[in-house]
Amino acid sequence: MERDRVITSDEIVGDEFEKSIRPELLDDYIGQKDVKENIRVFIEAAKLRDEPLDHVLLYGPPGLGKTTLAYIIANELGSNIKTASGPSIEKSGDLAAILSSLEPGDVLFIDEIHRMPSFVEEILYPAMEDFTLDIMVGGDGNSRNLRINLPPFTLVGATTRAGDLTSPLRDRFGIISKLQYYTTEELQEIVKRTSRVLGMPIDEDASFELASRSRGTPRIANRLFRRVRDFALVDGDDTINLEVTKKALKRLKVDDAGLDDTDHQLLRGIIEKFNGGPVGIESIASVIGEETTTIEDVYEPYLLQCGFLKRTPRGRVVTEKGYRQVNMTYQNTLFDMESEEEE
Ligand SMILES: Nc1ncnc2c1ncn2[C@@H]1O[C@H](COP(=O)(O)OP(=O)(O)O)[C@@H](O)[C@H]1O
Ligand SMILES: [Mg+2]
Repeated sequence: MERDRVITSDEIVGDEFEKSIRPELLDDYIGQKDVKENIRVFIEAAKLRDEPLDHVLLYGPPGLGKTTLAYIIANELGSNIKTASGPSIEKSGDLAAILSSLEPGDVLFIDEIHRMPSFVEEILYPAMEDFTLDIMVGGDGNSRNLRINLPPFTLVGATTRAGDLTSPLRDRFGIISKLQYYTTEELQEIVKRTSRVLGMPIDEDASFELASRSRGTPRIANRLFRRVRDFALVDGDDTINLEVTKKALKRLKVDDAGLDDTDHQLLRGIIEKFNGGPVGIESIASVIGEETTTIEDVYEPYLLQCGFLKRTPRGRVVTEKGYRQVNMTYQNTLFDMESEEEE
């Protein structure tokens, strides 16, 4: 269960706001330089060869632009996109139906592809490799295998956890791209773009402030922009300035590093209940009442990236920097533990 987080990077189903500010072309897709330039070349080459683009796997934490990039790929190819999500494909028939509806050159986007049941996944192998679909027809000892040819298509898969993908599936992607957290400068560009698209100007220092508190994540930058815009509107400002930005972020309890209440709870929980760690992910989950996968996919990556949290063979440890961020006094827990073990 995802709690109601202001700065959640989780997608909200049917979020029209998000759709309205999604860039549609590679040139408008900010940052992710390596991924973008590679994909640009592969798309160009596929077009020149008049062949479908190789299957693409996009992975990285939520809100970094996987879905956006999938749509851009289809757009740049001049193709239609059909979408599905791993958990919603429950039966092999569901996937067979999707596959047999594809037109030549289509992009099939499967979000959360790591959550597809394995018997469904196996149908995808021949489809990806040879554009064929094997289905069983009949029954009662009278069943036989039927092979159907599919039109050439490109599968774009997205996942937050590449490690959860089986290797036969992963190996069938010709292009595997990892999306990285964005720099403050890139996020600032994204904020400015959103400001232009929505017709609400933002001052340079305000966009920088917002960007630097967005946990490296465009989705969060855009959400915060929207909230800050509300504050500005209520104040009767027609431009977002630094003052209102700071005020809004304070109200939203987003700290100077972009951490919110839940992040603070997580770090403080480890410090107070487990002496700063090392502690297992299950214990952290019970302290803040979240599922372990949510912690691993959503909360932890950014805390690790910023160096507030560290992974050790024995579990997670809050770093000195992490203690400082939540205004707690650092104790050298590793030292304490070593002396305990010697006794
Ligand atoms: N590179 C980018 N440039 C501009 N905006 C982006 C970029 N990546 C993501 N966004 C914005 O962030 C939001 C979330 O992106 P999305 O593709 O839905 O993330 P994901 O699928 O990885 O969770 C989208 O509304 C999009 O407008
Ligand atoms: Mg997505």
